[in-house]
Amino acid sequence: MADETPAPDSPVIDTTVPHSARIWNYWLGGKDNYPVDRAAGDQYVDVFPGIVDIACSGRAFLARAVRFLAGEAGVRQFLDCGTGLPTADNTHEVAQRAAPASHIVYVDNDPLVLSHAQALLTSSAEGATSYVEADLHDPERILDLAATELDFGEPVALLLMGVLGHMGDHKEALGIVRHLGGALPSGGYLALYDDTDTDEAHNRAQRDYDDTGAVPYRLRPPEQIIAYFDDFDVVAPGVVPCEEWRPEPDQGGPPRRTSTLCGVGRKP
Ligand SMILES: C[S@@+](CC[C@H](N)C(=O)[O-])C[C@H]1O[C@@H](n2cnc3c(N)ncnc32)[C@H](O)[C@@H]1O
Repeated sequence: MADETPAPDSPVIDTTVPHSARIWNYWLGGKDNYPVDRAAGDQYVDVFPGIVDIACSGRAFLARAVRFLAGEAGVRQFLDCGTGLPTADNTHEVAQRAAPASHIVYVDNDPLVLSHAQALLTSSAEGATSYVEADLHDPERILDLAATELDFGEPVALLLMGVLGHMGDHKEALGIVRHLGGALPSGGYLALYDDTDTDEAHNRAQRDYDDTGAVPYRLRPPEQIIAYFDDFDVVAPGVVPCEEWRPEPDQGGPPRRTSTLCGVGRKP
């Protein structure tokens, strides 16, 4: 459990309402969460147990996508928006294992993620990692801050993993993807996963969660998630459930089917 006594200069952590990063951490088996997060997480699981598979398969997709990007695609720069709390196989660890010179900029707006940023700022000697506290609703600020670290004249992979549902309005979410995607050069990549609204129990659990006072998460029709890739050439196997995206043999038993969609696209 997270230490609930803040240090004098630490960011203010609100432990009275559940937070997305902390509940995600709880479902992933982490310890950086509070009673309010565990209560909301358990209530969600009671209505829709599949959410734990979704969290795990999303994380596993993130690792496979970053391995593909740093390996086969040869990308050396990553802008990971909606990073989440540090866990196993964070973006910089996966990328720098494949390509030690990889440079990662993490972006999140949760104060607890900021207070744990130190764990994200380890880096290979050849590469670099940095953390920016910023809100995805303000993509121009993210680009301004990221431009001090990344060279947007060279390929950058934009990661939007499990975060676009926090952008309530689909038009706004699409606008954010276009804004950030527009800053990528030809040969840059977009990689994302998100939850669809195709499972009624999931929709019900999400409605209950949204009533807790937490920042709501919008489950979307598949076509709205597919539309995020409009300006990109989607690499094989296309926009598919997370567990179907280039599965690897060492993943254990057959993955359970989730109502997620994910994909990786290259900017032409
Ligand atoms: C569901 S978690 C996903 C974490 C991680 N990307 C993963 O795939 O495991 C969503 C993350 O988005 C962050 N987030 C939510 N709204 C945000 C916003 N407006 N700006 C930046 N980050 C945001 C949350 O703090 C949280 O860390």
